[in-house]
Amino acid sequence: MQQFDVVVIGAGAAGMMCAIEAGKRGRSVLVIDHARAPGEKIRISGGGRCNFTNLHASPMNFLSANPSFCISALRRYTQTDFIALVERNGIAWHEKTLGQLFCDGSSRQIVDLLVSDMRSHGAELRLSTSVERIDRNAEGFALALSDGAVQCASLVVACGGKSIPKMGATGFGYDIAAQFGVSVTETRPALVPLTLEPTMLARLAPLAGVAVDAVAACGKTQFAEAMLFTHRGLSGPAILQISSYWREGEEIGLNLLPARDLFEELRAARAANGRQALHTALAAHLPKRLAQAIAESEGATGNLADFSDKALRRVAQSVNDWRFKPAGSEGYRTAEVTLGGVDTRDLDSRTMAARTVPGLYFIGEVVDVTGWLGGYNFQWAWSSGWCAGQAA
Ligand code: FDA
Repeated sequence: MQQFDVVVIGAGAAGMMCAIEAGKRGRSVLVIDHARAPGEKIRISGGGRCNFTNLHASPMNFLSANPSFCISALRRYTQTDFIALVERNGIAWHEKTLGQLFCDGSSRQIVDLLVSDMRSHGAELRLSTSVERIDRNAEGFALALSDGAVQCASLVVACGGKSIPKMGATGFGYDIAAQFGVSVTETRPALVPLTLEPTMLARLAPLAGVAVDAVAACGKTQFAEAMLFTHRGLSGPAILQISSYWREGEEIGLNLLPARDLFEELRAARAANGRQALHTALAAHLPKRLAQAIAESEGATGNLADFSDKALRRVAQSVNDWRFKPAGSEGYRTAEVTLGGVDTRDLDSRTMAARTVPGLYFIGEVVDVTGWLGGYNFQWAWSSGWCAGQAA
């Protein structure tokens, strides 16, 4: 049986970072992944340019049953640390918006950086390899892999969440937690497009492709970003962000014209030119197709002069404060991340070690720490992976 100090399951962002750090400490490390290539989610992320961190990453950008759990790891390995790593490797980057940092070139540069750092610190990478069985023994863990047996002192679970099963996401990390009596909180798709009831969808489907800057709100949480009408419902950053806070049956509020009081704008337009059609007045503020659809949905096709203040207020409200209940979400098929996961009460926040199982670690998305859209999830993967790499 081959012996390693550390076996990492999952050659994603968190697993590779952990392997590099453990390798630096002189630990013998094996990273296994059932996929044919490492870091596939890194490769497809950020439209192929990888939004690898966020300048403003702080604990308030993360959701978890225990919001303070992420503080220690995010402090120990910060966005500045990762930016320095990227720069040391000559990878050019830029800030796109809201502190989101992307490669100028390709996300493959980040994958290559991690793979080559693993290699230079002696970590072995085995792809197309699956885990058939894990047993605990006096020396740590015995793993039956598809290509033979290995023994390790420390086992790091870095196999991500359930999002995008087509890319090999399995939920295997939660099964390992269950096997060793580590709790898992309820999991659900997050950063995911929302779907609409059939009648509302039929009304809005012609708007597919229309984008507006909006404020999306659910309860006390709100995000000001772009949103997009799609053939299935609503998407775009504002919707993905709010989806992480939304629960079935709850209402979402959308302000499709955040900087303006549309009622006052329409009143002024009516005073200036009462013969103007409502949809023309709306089109001064909104994309033409959206303006048309709003005018039609209000059964309001006349001139502005035909509208009372009450009628204008109703139209304005449907833009400044549109409230609706989504039918659901598009689920793990398209969700960027999984909300929930390995219960942080069972983990040490400094090292990511399971409190009751010496030598067992959970890092990255498999843990119940979920970031906002905008590079936060990779920062969590780097920070938690780095911490486990100092200890495993
Ligand atoms: P990750 O999922 O990256 O890696 C897990 C690894 O484990 C995979 O290589 C998988 O093959 C392997 N694995 C799974 N089950 C296994 C098993 N049973 N046996 C062996 N191996 C197994 N975040 C961000 O900050 N910026 C961004 O730009 C984006 N963009 C983005 C786009 C899309 C389309 C998605 C789906 C997601 C993003 N994200 C993102 C989220 C980000 O990709 C995610 O949070 C991290 O990849 C999580 O890193 P982990 O290493 O924890 O898991």
